Amino acid sequence: MTASERVPESRRCILSHSANETFALGARLGQLLAPGDFVGLVGELGTGKTEFVRGVAQGAGVSAAEVSSPTFAIISAYRGRIPIYHADFFRIRDYDEAYSTGFTDLLESDGAVLVEWLNRVPRAAPRELIVLSFEDLGGEERRIQAYAYGIRYQQRLQTWIPDAGSSRL
Ligand SMILES: Nc1ncnc2c1ncn2[C@@H]1O[C@H](COP(=O)(O)OP(=O)(O)OP(=O)(O)O)[C@@H](O)[C@H]1O
Ligand SMILES: [Mg+2]
Repeated sequence: MTASERVPESRRCILSHSANETFALGARLGQLLAPGDFVGLVGELGTGKTEFVRGVAQGAGVSAAEVSSPTFAIISAYRGRIPIYHADFFRIRDYDEAYSTGFTDLLESDGAVLVEWLNRVPRAAPRELIVLSFEDLGGEERRIQAYAYGIRYQQRLQTWIPDAGSSRL
């Protein structure tokens, strides 16, 4: 994807040891998200992207029932402290198809946008965003790497996962 060819303003590497830990990490980010924020989630099947977004939704004040309700939509909207838009591009073939879902309207909306499989449609990525990459390390262990592109997201990352020192080097 375009973003990964650029150098991020900052990055973090987190090890998660359970689905609950991944959920809790997402919930902490959900508390911080602001309207217009964009988060792309990449990584193979079953690495925890949806689990993380469920946590984000809870952290943003969305009721659990709303998130667990089954849907076949490409984009789901959850009502929380701010709207949370959750898209999954796994089945999207190209930018035109992503566009036809109404996805671009979300980019300047009142909510935060989280997109699984963003790497399937690189053109859909805004210039500034957080990219989260999920890897299965075996068992319940997952490596979650966070990349912030743009000052706005560098600040978001610092609040979400404080990292004493590295930004001052
Ligand atoms: N540390 C962990 N973090 C997240 N999920 C975990 C972890 N350990 C085990 N799991 C399990 O892995 C699965 C992750 O599923 P999830 O739907 O979140 O993956 P996904 O990345 O969204 O996959 P897909 O690409 O199919 O959408 C769940 O069954 C979850 O219980
Ligand atoms: Mg998923």
